[in-house]
Amino acid sequence: MKGGNYTSLGTCSGINVSGNVAGTRKMSLGKSIKMYLTIFILTTCIYMALYQYHISREPFAASEVVKPPLYIITPTYRRPEQLAELTRLGYTLKHVVNLLWLVIEDANKTNPLVGHTLDRIGVPYEYMVAPMPEKYKQTKKAKPRGVSNRNRGLEYLREHATEGVLYFADDDNTYDISIFEQMRYISKVAMWPVGLVTKTGVSSPIIQAGKLVGYYDGWIGGRKYPVDMAGFAVSVKFLKERPNAQMPFKPGYEEDGFLRSLAPLDDAEIELLADECRDILTWHTQTKKNAPAQALNRTRYKNTNLEHIDRLLVRP
Ligand code: UGA
Ligand code: MN
Repeated sequence: MKGGNYTSLGTCSGINVSGNVAGTRKMSLGKSIKMYLTIFILTTCIYMALYQYHISREPFAASEVVKPPLYIITPTYRRPEQLAELTRLGYTLKHVVNLLWLVIEDANKTNPLVGHTLDRIGVPYEYMVAPMPEKYKQTKKAKPRGVSNRNRGLEYLREHATEGVLYFADDDNTYDISIFEQMRYISKVAMWPVGLVTKTGVSSPIIQAGKLVGYYDGWIGGRKYPVDMAGFAVSVKFLKERPNAQMPFKPGYEEDGFLRSLAPLDDAEIELLADECRDILTWHTQTKKNAPAQALNRTRYKNTNLEHIDRLLVRP
């Protein structure tokens, strides 16, 4: 009769067996289900615990996202080195969170090759154009390089930004990413040394007993702020409190003119970064000019990869 019971149970659960052997199998099936369920629940719990631990140790945890934003204004212009410079700078900026890269080209229209390069790098960006006024382009004298670009960047910030910090990063310089984390928290203006500037090899504020007492630079030129473009940052709020602040089209005096336009600004309010200006974290590197690539022989290299590569070459 037992067998019958088991049989009916077995039938009930769709297992068409009978007798004691079948009963034993049924018993072990029930146990197996319990065992698998226990293993499943235990595994899920362990996985969840490990996941929580992993999240708590993530370098970019939720608290990082609320860091003040950085606005990096980069003037750029068409030349054989352009895509290489933007690639190098872009991958530096990729190490920095909560950053918007304002890439502004001295041109009348954007270049799809630049857009493609920026997309590939994957840093959040805005790509705009701001051509140098024709009268400066034509001059035989020194040109105000990157000025219309930087002023376009300032205009963008006045319209779109409310907090955080702005920094002018020329496309050809070298930047240690720790300077970006330091400038993020400034309240007005900050300065620090820039390597490879003039015959002094460095342009730097001079600090004595913790105070800014002057500037060290191979060319002072009557400037109130003889600093390099790569050597200062400004808070967005501070900029917006000075609606007329902008960069003059005055070669050699761009930094000085812009910083003067931020008045009132006491020397004591200038924050000194890079270990109170004892360290060098930015460099005014310059890339060797490359001659434009010679024309491709289209007959000889017809239907080869060289036809594709040729479209990537930037000729002036
Ligand atoms: C130095 C300073 O570091 C610059 O900040 C300053 O604008 C420049 O001098 C100047 O006073 O003319 P330097 O290395 O001599 O820089 O100049 P570049 O690197 O050739 O140009 C500075 C920035 O402007 C670069 O980001 C560059 O891509 C851009 N630029 C240059 C233009 O947008 N248009 C140009 O015709 C030339
Ligand atoms: Mn440069």
